Parts: sequence; C-alpha cells; structure tokens
Amino acid sequence: MYLSLLLLQFTTVLALSGVAVGQNLTVDADWRKPTTSLSQSSRISIAQNAINALVPQLDSTTGEFNGIGYWQSGNAYSAMALLDQVTHSTTNKAVVVGNLKKVFGLRKNFDKFGFNDDAMWWATAAYYAYRAYGDTTLLADAVATWNAVTPYVMTASQAQSGKSPVKNFPLAGSCDGFTMAGGVFWRPTTDDKSINSITTGLYVTLSAYLAEVTGDAKYTNAAILSANWIKNHNINSGHIVLDSESGADCSRSSASWIFTYNSGKFIEGLAILYDHTKDPQWNQLMLDIVAAAVKNKSWQGTNGIITEGGSTSKNDDGVGFKAVFIRGLLQAYRKRAGDNASLAKLLRSYIDVQYNALLDLASAGNDYSAKWVGPAPASFNSWGQLAALDVLVAAVGVN
Ligand SMILES: *[C@@H]1O[C@H](CO)[C@@H](O)[C@H](O)[C@H]1NC(C)=O
Ligand SMILES: *[C@@H]1O[C@H](CO)[C@@H](O)[C@H](O)[C@H]1NC(C)=O
Ligand SMILES: *[C@@H]1O[C@H](CO)[C@@H](O)[C@H](O)[C@H]1NC(C)=O
Repeated sequence: MYLSLLLLQFTTVLALSGVAVGQNLTVDADWRKPTTSLSQSSRISIAQNAINALVPQLDSTTGEFNGIGYWQSGNAYSAMALLDQVTHSTTNKAVVVGNLKKVFGLRKNFDKFGFNDDAMWWATAAYYAYRAYGDTTLLADAVATWNAVTPYVMTASQAQSGKSPVKNFPLAGSCDGFTMAGGVFWRPTTDDKSINSITTGLYVTLSAYLAEVTGDAKYTNAAILSANWIKNHNINSGHIVLDSESGADCSRSSASWIFTYNSGKFIEGLAILYDHTKDPQWNQLMLDIVAAAVKNKSWQGTNGIITEGGSTSKNDDGVGFKAVFIRGLLQAYRKRAGDNASLAKLLRSYIDVQYNALLDLASAGNDYSAKWVGPAPASFNSWGQLAALDVLVAAVGVN
C-alpha cells in the first residue's frame, strides 16, 4: 500500500508537469506478422462470418447471447454496429437495433444487476448503433442511461462537503492531494464505495461521444472532470491505467491488478475528448497510454500476441477485456491516425498481429478460440467468438 501510494504520487507529478515527452511509437521488431495482405472484401467477409456464427446463440427473450455475460452481450452488439459503421452497411442493423431496444425495455436504463459499468456498456453500444444507423431512439436510450449514471459521479461540491445524496458513508473528497471529483461509483448501491477506471472511463467516453452528437458543453465538461480523475488518481508511472480506488478511504486495488480494458477504454475516450477540447494534454496522455499498453509484457508475449483472458474451458471477464482494448485502439485509429503516421502504423501493426494470430493459430473455419496464441478451437464457444469479433472488425477499419 505504502509503496503504491508513493508510486502514485510520482505518477501524478509527472502527469501534471505537462511536458510533452515524445512517446516511443516504434513497432516492435519481435512482433509476429504485423501486416495483412488480405483484401478489404475478404476482411469484411471474415468479420461478418464470425458474427453470423455467434448470432444463433442469441436468446430472443432476453436479447443476450448464450455462453457470455450480460456486459459481454452488450459488447457483441458494439462490434456488429461498428462493422456496419466502418463499411457503411446495414447488414447487422435488424439484429442490433431490435435487440438493443428490447434490452432497454427489459432493463431500466440498461442496468440489470446494479452496476453502472454494465449500463454504460449497453449505452455505448446504443450510441455506436445510432452512429451506424441513425436510429434516434437508441440515441435517446444512451442519453437516458447517461442521465441515470450521472448522480453517481462525485461532484466538486460533494468532494468538498464529503457527502453524496446517493451514498450512505462519508466521502473521501480528496486522495493523495487530488480532488476525487469526477470519479464514478462502480455501483449505485448506497453502501458500495468503489470508484474504478472502467466505470469512469466508460463515462468519459460516453460523455465525449454525446458531446460530439449534441454539441452540448455539459457533456464535454463531464468528460473533462472524469478524465482528470483517472489522470490524477489511477495511472501508474508506467502509463498503465490502474483498476480501482475507494471513495470512502482512498484504499486502492493492488498495483499488479492491471487489465487491458482500463487502458483501452480510456484511450478511446481521450481520442474523442481531444477533438472537443483541442487541449494537447489529452492527446499526449492518450499517446503515453497507447505506447505503454501495446508493449506491456503483463498481457502479451514478446511476439505481441495478447494472452489475457485466454481460457478455452470457460467464459471469463478477461476475454471481454481484450476485446474492449482492441475496440479502443480501433476508435483511436479512426480519430487520430491522420494526426501522426507513427501512431497510425503502431495501431495498425498491433491490431494486425492479433488478427493474424487469430486467423493462423486460433481459428477453425469461422470459429475462434479465446486463446489467441492457439491452438485452434475444438468446437465453437461464445466467449472465444466474442473476443475475436473486435479484432476482426478492427482489421477492416485499420487496413
Ligand atoms: C508522433 O508522435 C510521436 C510521439 O509523441 C512524436 O515523437 C512524433 O514527432 C509525432 N510525429 C508527427 C509526424 O507528428
Ligand atoms: C522504442 O521501441 C522499440 C520497439 O519496441 C524498441 O526496440 C526501442 O528500443 C525503443 N526505443 C527506446 C529509445 O526506448
Ligand atoms: C507493465 O506494466 C506494469 C505496471 O505498470 C509494470 O510494473 C511493468 O514493469 C510493465 N512491464 C513491461 C515489460 O513493460
């Protein structure tokens, strides 16, 4: 604990100095197959065939897929909508729009179990679907969810008074010398104290997207406040986004508890936020995190292939994490590739490494293993398929 706090203070000092350090965006020479020669039409077919293999697992009563969790089902729709958005098609429109509306009708503001992050996975899928198909009901569902989550964002005045109307404990209004304003509570439950990077990162990203659509400054301001929370509290000196911190006593998750999606979701949010603010600190922070996350050996081998969440025997959250990470990199590519050729090449290469691993080592026909280093799956499973979708879609978007 003591060591990690020291580390944290060191990190925030670095972050606040605002010095634009040139990040190392060089592609690692040890990465396996960082390019693809497949045509655009082949890559689109491969992605769509993988979607088509998952769709029979859809439970038409719940709008969820057999074999994966509620939050992961929301993410499957994100991948489908993004493929259509990238290719300007409506191939998946009926299944995406119909089921997102069904689930919004079944689960108030997309919350099934009392988790703000769950609600925002689905709201973000609704936003992507709105962008792909122009369905304004889905945009309204995303806005309703944003409104439902917003009371769980610690405001500056709540941080000052140490009180929140939705929590039954005294707040830690500042930790390590920084206000806790902008942190988003993981759960709406009155006694749940956890604030985490994924819930806050989802809120940054959804706010930035809603700012993009509406031009309303309240969304931009919300995105900035919450981006500052992650920047000040939850990035280590190695530029990796950490997991969680208590909104009651500043205690935090273990420094070794690091997952790709915390970095990936924040990368996505920063890529969009920079558009609205033109504040170079958000672009610099995004570059810092990208440069660190695509090379960190905690979740990939020297060949660059992601190893997180590779269970072939059962679903786990980790398979969903790496999918979210790759989706964040795709969205960063789509927004920021034009700014910097080195960044574009790094993102494309890293995504193509995962793509070639899936195609060469971890697939059987249109079925994919959760273990991207292989071997090929013995038979179809929904979690391996879900994890692959974002890579297959990203390979359409970046090549
Ligand atoms: C791209 O970003 C890197 C890292 O910040 C920087 O060193 C490089 O000069 C940038 N290149 C261009 C063309 O802007
Ligand atoms: C930059 O990254 C490349 C590829 O990972 C590595 O080989 C190189 O040593 C790094 N350069 C510096 C100055 O760290
Ligand atoms: C990966 O990130 C963790 C957390 O920042 C850090 O401790 C470790 O040194 C990093 N490893 C590599 C090889 O980059």
